[in-house]
Amino acid sequence: MPDYIISDTGPERAYLVGASERGSRPLLSVDDSLNELALLADTAGMLVVGRATQNLNRIDPATYIGAGKVEEILAAVTAADAEVVIFDDELSPRHQRELEKRFGEAIKILDRSALILDIFAQHANTREGALQVELAQYEYRLPRLTRQWTHLARQSGGAAGRGGTGGVGLRGPGETQLEVDRREIRRRISKLRQEIEQVRMHRSRHRSQRERAGVTLVALVGYTNAGKSTLLRALTGADVYIANQLFATLDPTTRRVELPTGRSVLLTDTVGFIQKLPTTLIVAFRATLEEITQADLLLHVVDVTHPNVLQHIETVEDTLAEIDMPSVPRVLVWNKMDLWGNNPLPPLPEDGDYIAQVAVSAEKKLGMNDLLSAIETALASTMYRVKLLLPFERGDLVSYLYETASVESNQSTEEGVLLGVQMPAALYQRFKSYQVTR
Ligand code: GTP
Repeated sequence: MPDYIISDTGPERAYLVGASERGSRPLLSVDDSLNELALLADTAGMLVVGRATQNLNRIDPATYIGAGKVEEILAAVTAADAEVVIFDDELSPRHQRELEKRFGEAIKILDRSALILDIFAQHANTREGALQVELAQYEYRLPRLTRQWTHLARQSGGAAGRGGTGGVGLRGPGETQLEVDRREIRRRISKLRQEIEQVRMHRSRHRSQRERAGVTLVALVGYTNAGKSTLLRALTGADVYIANQLFATLDPTTRRVELPTGRSVLLTDTVGFIQKLPTTLIVAFRATLEEITQADLLLHVVDVTHPNVLQHIETVEDTLAEIDMPSVPRVLVWNKMDLWGNNPLPPLPEDGDYIAQVAVSAEKKLGMNDLLSAIETALASTMYRVKLLLPFERGDLVSYLYETASVESNQSTEEGVLLGVQMPAALYQRFKSYQVTR
């Protein structure tokens, strides 16, 4: 065996750092937020070997934490043999540069955003997902580009490496390598935006087909790891990836599900949310998230056993507001009840505007019928209840209504089939011309 092959040194060893600024009111305490960061690091395949926190009067403009604390952490990081230091908040480009200087070349400085972007990059399975993550990575990295970073990126084959900065050797007159890299990244960003726009247009063509067909869309939303994919599988039998990991699902999966009255709706599962989700990601994932904004009903899935459950609900609400989610009816689904026993449910958030709440265990398939009935009732509250008179020769439309709407009565008359139907607004627009008042 050639002696230059380096043996596998195991997972990257990570040291976590959190800071709280006096007077600020973060959603989670520094410790809770660091626990979450530890899960993120674990999901990214790292081994957490230590952590430190600091209370500050204000965030240091140069080093984020105080200079003395930097020295203290450097010593701890060296003692723990850590290779990466991860800060729990987004570092400014200046913080990043200063910290890289203080910690030296052997220690990588990451922040929560970079870590989340990395996990997203690992989990993107479709072309759209991969394009969106790549865009978010470039947007995040452009202002942080340093000589050290480009060097690392080329070695690791990260987004910028793949994008071709590594291959760019042609400098214009007087340009530094850094300028060449920036120019190349800007070029990639605009190309990615174009590609994503094409995918988005393709998707919206599909959507308008669905809307024309009057199919109702129910979207699952929730904090990462709440159990959305498990619920989608429990309700539809879909073969979706489920893992005790953060952000296992990035790409939307949509399946048909039949409600108790026989009417079917589409159920869609998409990316989970988390506090401090990088804004570049939310912007880049707009195309995927648009799917949620088109829903007729939202099921907000919550891990009832999580100690920060109320903060999770608030984060999801805030993120929905950030993507301009229109006000559609919402049902709160308390999941993982198999682990909760007979403990009382947490209080329903006051400003959440939920029309119903249901307790379920997606894993044990408990409460599924209650949930389906709640979906049906919730949809009915936004429904048109009408009488339609369809000509006898339009048996196709009658069957179609049985599949997609809730048919409450069916009577043969001399002029045709008289149906009493409850239907969502989109479907009503299509059948309006058959409406009669009797
Ligand atoms: P993201 O992809 O991160 O958005 O996660 P998700 O919300 O789709 O969660 P997922 O369905 O992947 O489930 C996360 C973890 O919770 C998995 O380990 C599931 O097995 C577990 N889980 C989901 N539902 C239940 C439940 O009802 N009871 C228990 N005990 N575990 C559950």
